[in-house]
Order: sequence, then C-alpha cells, then structure tokens
Amino acid sequence: MAVPPFVLLLIFVGCASTVTSDQDPFIGVNIGTDLSDMPHPTQVVALLKAQNIRHIRLYNTDRGMLVALANTGIQVIVSVPNEQLLGIGQSNSTAANWVSQNVIAHYPATNITGISVGSEVLTALPNAAPILVNALKFIHSALVASNLDRQIKVSTPLSSSIILDSFPPSQAFFNKSLNPVLVPMLNFLQSTGSYLMLNVYPYYDYMQSNGVIPLDYALFKPLPSNKEAVDANTLLHYTNVFDATVDATYFAMAFLNFTNIPVVVTETGWPSKGDSNEPDATLVNANTYNSNLIRHVLNKTGTPKHPGIAVSTYIYELYNEDTKAGPLSEKNWGLFDASGSPIYILHLTGSGSVLANDTTNQTYCTAKEGADPKMLQAALDWACGVGKVDCSPLMQGESCYEPDTVSAHATYAFDTYYHQMGKAPGSCDFNGVAAVTTTNPGHGSCIFSGSLGRNATSVNVTAPSMNSTTSGSPAGNHYTSMSCFLLWMKVLVWIALFL
Ligand SMILES: *[C@@H]1O[C@H](CO)[C@@H](O)[C@H](O)[C@H]1NC(C)=O
Ligand SMILES: *[C@@H]1O[C@H](CO)[C@@H](O)[C@H](O)[C@H]1NC(C)=O
Ligand SMILES: *[C@@H]1O[C@H](CO)[C@@H](O)[C@H](O)[C@H]1NC(C)=O
Ligand SMILES: *[C@@H]1O[C@H](CO)[C@@H](O)[C@H](O)[C@H]1NC(C)=O
Ligand SMILES: *[C@@H]1O[C@H](CO)[C@@H](O)[C@H](O)[C@H]1NC(C)=O
Ligand SMILES: *[C@@H]1O[C@H](CO)[C@@H](O)[C@H](O)[C@H]1NC(C)=O
Ligand SMILES: *[C@@H]1O[C@H](CO)[C@@H](O)[C@H](O)[C@H]1NC(C)=O
Ligand SMILES: *[C@@H]1O[C@H](CO)[C@@H](O)[C@H](O)[C@H]1NC(C)=O
Ligand SMILES: *[C@@H]1O[C@H](CO)[C@@H](O)[C@H](O)[C@H]1NC(C)=O
Ligand SMILES: *[C@@H]1O[C@H](CO)[C@@H](O)[C@H](O)[C@H]1NC(C)=O
Repeated sequence: MAVPPFVLLLIFVGCASTVTSDQDPFIGVNIGTDLSDMPHPTQVVALLKAQNIRHIRLYNTDRGMLVALANTGIQVIVSVPNEQLLGIGQSNSTAANWVSQNVIAHYPATNITGISVGSEVLTALPNAAPILVNALKFIHSALVASNLDRQIKVSTPLSSSIILDSFPPSQAFFNKSLNPVLVPMLNFLQSTGSYLMLNVYPYYDYMQSNGVIPLDYALFKPLPSNKEAVDANTLLHYTNVFDATVDATYFAMAFLNFTNIPVVVTETGWPSKGDSNEPDATLVNANTYNSNLIRHVLNKTGTPKHPGIAVSTYIYELYNEDTKAGPLSEKNWGLFDASGSPIYILHLTGSGSVLANDTTNQTYCTAKEGADPKMLQAALDWACGVGKVDCSPLMQGESCYEPDTVSAHATYAFDTYYHQMGKAPGSCDFNGVAAVTTTNPGHGSCIFSGSLGRNATSVNVTAPSMNSTTSGSPAGNHYTSMSCFLLWMKVLVWIALFL
C-alpha cells in the first residue's frame, strides 16, 4: 500500500520538532486535602523533608501551607481552583488581587514557581472554556507588573482525554472542537516561555480499554521487544502508555504548528485499593507503577519522540484522601496515610534520593494471597533451582517445613531470593504471584532473610531473570498481540478514512 501523503506530512512535522530542555527532570507530588484528619501544614512539610520531596503542587493557595513552606527550598505550584476561575477570567483586577494576596505575599520566602489556572477546565468545566485564556493572561499580566513572570510560569492542566486517536502517537490530535481555546492557549504558553500541563492516567486508559491495553504496558513492565507497540509512521517503539501519551501530546501540538512547548505531567499515579469492579487497583500495581515511573522519569530517558528531554512529573498524590467521593479507588491514590506512614514501600534502590526513605531493609517478599497454586509451585521450583535459593529449610523436619503449604514454602523461597538480589526492582514479582510487604512472614524457628538484615553484598550470586515464558503464563502475551492487532486496525481505519 502506498504511503498516503498526510502520513508524510505528519512525519515531516514530527521531524521538524524543536522541543529542547537543558533541565534535569524531577519528580514532584500533588497534595490533595480531602482527609478527615488532614495533617497540620508543619507535619506535611516535615514529611516532604523526610522524603526529600523538593517539588509539590497544591490545589489551592492555603495560607498555612504557604507559610509552612517558607524557607524550605521546596518549589511550589499553586492553583486557582475551578470555583474561582470565572471571577478571575472575567476581571483583570480580580486576577491582580488574587496574585497579590496568594502569590506575591509569600514570594520569595516560599518558592512559588508555577500557577496552575483551574484543573482540566476543558473537560470538567466546559462552560468556563471561553474565559480560560483570559484568566491565564490576566494572571500573567499581574506577574509581569511585579516583575515575577520569568520566575513563575502560568499554565493550565489538561486531561489527556482531549487528545483523540492517541495511538499511534504520530496521528494524535486534539479534539478539534476545542481548537478555538487551544490555539490561543498554546500561543500564550509559547510566547510566555511556559509549558503544557498534562494529566496522564494510564490506570483509566487501561481500565477503559476492555483488555486492548495490556496491564504490563500500563505499568512500565518490560514487554518482549516483538510485542512492543510500534508507531508505523515513525517506527518508534513504545514500551509504556505514559510515553505514548506524552508523545501523542507533542504530535497533537505539532499538528497545530506548535513545536517548542515542553510538557510537564501535573498528575499521574495508580490507586492501591479499589472496589470489587476495580481489581487492578492493588498495592502491588500502585507500587510497580509509581516505582517504575520515578525511575523512568529520573533516568532522563525522555520519550521515544524526544529522547533525553525532561518530562518532569508530579505524582498523584501525597496522601490517601479518605473523604473523596466516588469509588473506593478515589480514596486510595496516596503514597502515605494521614500519619505519614507509607502505604507501600517503593522499589527505588539506586534511583536517586526522592521518596527513598531508607526503610527498605524492613521489607519482605511473600506469595500473594489467592495466587494460583500452579503458578506458585512453578515459581517456587524456579527459585530453588535457577534462582539458587537454598531451600533445604523447607525439607521435612527442617525449620520452615511447617506449614506444609505451597504458599508458605513459596514465601520462604521468594523472600530469600528477594534478599539475595539486594531487593532489586523486579526481584519480588515471580510473574505476579509475589508481593513486597513490610510484615515479617517469619514464624517460630523459621527465620526469614529480611529479619537477619542479610543483603546482596553478603551473598555472591549472579542475577538470573525469571522470564514470563519460564513459568508458562500465556495470558499476558495473548493480550499483547491482541492489542497490537487492534492498534493496527485502528491505523488502517484511519488511513482508509483519509484516502
Ligand atoms: C485591566 O483592563 C483595563 C481595560 O481593559 C485596563 O485599562 C487596565 O490597565 C487593566 N488593568 C490591569 C491591572 O491590567
Ligand atoms: C526557586 O527555585 C529555583 C529552582 O531551583 C531557583 O532557581 C530559585 O532561585 C528559587 N527561588 C527562590 C526565591 O528561592
Ligand atoms: C470533543 O469536545 C466536544 C466539546 O467539549 C465534546 O462534546 C465531544 O464529545 C468531544 N469529542 C470527543 C470524541 O471526545
Ligand atoms: C501550519 O503551518 C502550515 C505551513 O505554514 C500551514 O499551511 C497550516 O495551515 C498551519 N496549520 C495550522 C493548524 O495553523
Ligand atoms: C537508565 O538508563 C540507562 C540507559 O539509558 C540504563 O542503562 C540504566 O539501567 C537505566 N537505569 C535505571 C535505574 O533504569
Ligand atoms: C524516614 O526515615 C526517618 C529516619 O530514619 C524516620 O524518622 C521517618 O519516620 C521515616 N519516614 C517514613 C515515612 O518512613
Ligand atoms: C536497616 O538495617 C540495618 C542493618 O541491617 C539496621 O541497623 C537498621 O536499623 C535497619 N533500618 C531500619 C529502618 O530498620
Ligand atoms: C548491606 O549492604 C550495605 C551496603 O549496600 C552494607 O553497608 C551493609 O553492611 C550490608 N548489611 C549486611 C547485614 O550485610
Ligand atoms: C563474586 O563472584 C565472582 C565470580 O564468581 C568473583 O569474581 C567475585 O570476586 C565474587 N565477589 C565476592 C564479593 O565474593
Ligand atoms: C529469557 O528469554 C530470552 C528470550 O526471550 C532468552 O534468550 C533467555 O535465555 C531467557 N532467560 C531465562 C533465564 O530463561
């Protein structure tokens, strides 16, 4: 089939792109406040410091928080809540007052570096769309008047749902009915040296895809290279939904001739608990997503379209918000509970210092509750064989024989392997039947590695990798090829429409 001319045009537009960045990417955290026992601002700041979180986004301009953040060096994005948007977008003096009371009053002691004007306005509050660009301009003018427009950038978070046909990324475009707002908005971002704020939720993309998007692809888990999603126009390989969404955004901007506006992801994350119809909102998946995300962002990988270009990202969110309405998952996006205890311990060994409180040596690897016994047995066999775990304590009469269940024996073997590997990322997965926990699974005379403080430096083993093929889990591969097929069909349909 001949390549249709518009594909060539898109490739050309893609190549002409000039997004540049000389900054290192960072990980920030959003701080929502719908908690029945919201910690005092000084406690919030203490947690941020203990976790070495240097970038945050607030959903308002809470005075207590802005005061507590003074002289901490923490960089802060403050927000105009959607409720205040109409007033600000209709009156430059209202905007100027807002900036003076909520920004200038705290700066520079509190290092406010950005103002997010509204939240997902085009999708959450479409009635306010006509005044959104004015609101951005009025806020910006007030900063110019105080000579703070270079230090403090103004933008507005967009939902990635306004990008249509986001795979393949090279054919993505913004919902055209929003162009009357988006074009002046992008002009504003470009002329003020600001950036596009984007909310990216692979969890929802995955949930809504009816199996088309494989879970591993949403969670940044490695896919066999022949199963990666390939953009037929650019031949770029996509290994995760996050990168594909960010690139789709670059392409959607390029489609409107904007090629030099950087993207900052203002929200992304994964819920750690959900209702019975949200089976993938789990501790393990939330941990996997956020751990992989942090490593991916901080590793300066960039995206396939713009390798090495920083895509700084704010995780949603610091605390579980127990008073949020909606499904159970809505209350469980947090990294910490109100007391500041981690909901799960991220696997961040060797990936910088953010969110890497050194509690990792208190973690253990256990067989997941309800895991398929055949898969557990296969993983147990693997750990005691290829994995080089000394499984002699599991023999009859030895310290860890009782209880004689595949789950208990697998837990012993998984945990020992996990510690032999120095708790390396991915070393407690075993094709999804294992999970990290902070509860010591040892019992009686059966003592687990974690409680002895053994680690990889004291055990000299090479790290074999347990392939998905080695323990025979066909499901993932099936869905992956299915998805590539469907994605291809989508491309073909798209091409057909334009011929
Ligand atoms: C607000 O707008 C009016 C008229 O458009 C203009 O005269 C005035 O200078 C503006 N004020 C500020 C603070 O920008
Ligand atoms: C705020 O943070 C930026 C980035 O690190 C830094 O360049 C700037 O000096 C800081 N501003 C204040 C007022 O501390
Ligand atoms: C595009 O945006 C319009 C206006 O907000 C909305 O009515 C329409 O459903 C959107 N189209 C798609 C495909 O999302
Ligand atoms: C982008 O630029 C090209 C070439 O200057 C022009 O033909 C096209 O109409 C522009 N597209 C938009 C959406 O402005
Ligand atoms: C970072 O990327 C490099 C290659 O660009 C890779 O070798 C390295 O393993 C990555 N590190 C992490 C922690 O992902
Ligand atoms: C982080 O580590 C410090 C010092 O070890 C400890 O006091 C603090 O409680 C830890 N925070 C969390 C959330 O684990
Ligand atoms: C981590 O392990 C070391 C030695 O194994 C121990 O001294 C230290 O107390 C442990 N840290 C925590 C937070 O348990
Ligand atoms: C664990 O490893 C660290 C260095 O990675 C080392 O300092 C520590 O002594 C080790 N602990 C034990 C119990 O071997
Ligand atoms: C680990 O094993 C390798 C090869 O078997 C050996 O060269 C190395 O010295 C060993 N390291 C330690 C700390 O024993
Ligand atoms: C893992 O799979 C790759 C190819 O998919 C294969 O080359 C390699 O030997 C496998 N490793 C193990 C430990 O089975």
